[in-house]
Amino acid sequence: MADDNKPAGPDFTQGVPLSSIPDGGSLLGRVGDEAVLLVRTGAEVFAIGAECTHYHGPLAEGVVSDGEVRCPWHHACFDVRTGEARHAPAFTPLACWKVERQADNVIVRDKLESKPRPRGKASSAPNKIVIVGGGAAGFAAAEMLRRQDYQGSIMMLSDDDAPPVDRPNLSKDYLAGSAPEDWLPLRPDNFYPESHIDLRLATEVKQIDPRAATVTLADRATLPYDRLLLATGAGPVRLTIPGADLPHVHVLRTLADCRAIIKAADQAKRVVVIGASFIGLEVAASLRARKLEVHVVAPDKRPLERVFGPQMGDFIRKLHEEHGVAFHLEDTSEAITEKQVKLKSGGTLDADLVVLGVGVRPRIALAEQAGLAIDRGVTVDARLQTSAPNIFAAGDIARWPDPHTGETIRVEHWVVAERQGQTAALNMLGMGLPYAAVPFFWSNHYDTPIGYIGHAEKWDDIAIDGDIAAQDCILRYRRGGKVLAVASIYRDQENLKAEIAMEREAA
Ligand SMILES: Cc1cc2nc3c(=O)[nH]c(=O)nc-3n(C[C@H](O)[C@H](O)[C@H](O)COP(=O)(O)OP(=O)(O)OC[C@H]3O[C@@H](n4cnc5c(N)ncnc54)[C@H](O)[C@@H]3O)c2cc1C
Ligand code: FES
Repeated sequence: MADDNKPAGPDFTQGVPLSSIPDGGSLLGRVGDEAVLLVRTGAEVFAIGAECTHYHGPLAEGVVSDGEVRCPWHHACFDVRTGEARHAPAFTPLACWKVERQADNVIVRDKLESKPRPRGKASSAPNKIVIVGGGAAGFAAAEMLRRQDYQGSIMMLSDDDAPPVDRPNLSKDYLAGSAPEDWLPLRPDNFYPESHIDLRLATEVKQIDPRAATVTLADRATLPYDRLLLATGAGPVRLTIPGADLPHVHVLRTLADCRAIIKAADQAKRVVVIGASFIGLEVAASLRARKLEVHVVAPDKRPLERVFGPQMGDFIRKLHEEHGVAFHLEDTSEAITEKQVKLKSGGTLDADLVVLGVGVRPRIALAEQAGLAIDRGVTVDARLQTSAPNIFAAGDIARWPDPHTGETIRVEHWVVAERQGQTAALNMLGMGLPYAAVPFFWSNHYDTPIGYIGHAEKWDDIAIDGDIAAQDCILRYRRGGKVLAVASIYRDQENLKAEIAMEREAA
């Protein structure tokens, strides 16, 4: 009788023929109760955990390339030799097992300890690294520094009360009520003291002096640095219309914002979401899951058309309408009262809760005050260094020279911020690595995940393969005959392959 608790596939401790593992591919099986992936690159075979350590994505459905396996869900990259999470959004390594060859048979033996491979040669050993920001980029930088065995001091200053959290979850499962709060921290509280990361919360940095190499806090304390990472992210835009500061009008950036919306949603019946942005629409979906009546007001003709084009925009609108969201498009809000939102078109919408999703602004005040070069964000070079010596910038604030488009770009994506934090960390140790990852983001609407790779602000045409309505499609955004970006629904492998192709093209 089959044991339902055991993962699917062959028992690798009993051995499998080498020919059953595709070269450059993988085979899913098990060792005891654990799902294991055998990955073959030529004559070599490696055994690693089969579940991504980010959100348990099925690595057997990912892509193997250049000694790494990429997760189909949010593109985390793992080293098949060591299990190391080489590129965010995963940080925890995969388990690895010893593999033995007996003639043409591959047998999996004991578990091995995961040891990260060095990324390059550190040419400097700063004593003091200060990170301003406790979000995606700041956290990823601190974690990478310790992973590289950096022995100097790391101070992470954040004006948020909460330690680094999984921000994308704040508009998705946590807001919808399907994820508990203990899923949110990127690491448990004890990670910081145990890793000797001096995390100071509710600590605002007021000033940077690049000449003296110091930062000054709101309480006037002055702290020296040898290397500084600016990772101050972005803040939600607030409307200036009458009533926008009423207590039932919310924005969503922090855990505290999210808790406040959940509390308000418990008492509310009708919500008006202003703005059909990613955050606005994800909030709409999550509040539908909480059974609120949801209206979305936005000036656009179609939701997210500017990013995805008209076809996907129509699909997203229909998807939300099927889940009960009412759209008021090509319209804006003129005023908010305690019980209503007044529309420019003349109508009014009842609302006992209002959430603004009208975009964010990069938090560049510190960089401006410090006299760093600014161009709609903090200007950095290919190594994420700002115009001032020993100061790096990463995440939502950074505008960098993107090798894929040949333009300088600034994006607001979780994975980009984390990967830039990782690269900046290595470069603060003097490794001089260019940031060359292709931008990636994902967005979830109900059970529909959309993955997007590349960057296209304008395009000549969109080549659609598959059926958007059937949620089985890949869209290629082309300009001058070149594919600049790819969006897909349930075509994860193709999306990963497009990512690899874009990386190779720019290399
Ligand atoms: C609700 C929500 C859902 C999202 N969902 C997705 C998604 O699905 N996919 C995706 O790709 N992206 C998503 N994003 C965007 C993503 O979260 C951001 O791109 C990412 O967090 C940027 O990382 P960052 O480190 O640059 O900034 P942040 O994560 O915002 O971190 C900035 C940090 O700097 C601190 N700070 C700022 N100024 C100061 C100062 N003067 N002194 C001290 N500390 C300071 C802040 O408190 C914060 O800790 C989402 C964003 C939100 C808000
Ligand atoms: S589940 Fe693998 S990257 Fe998110």
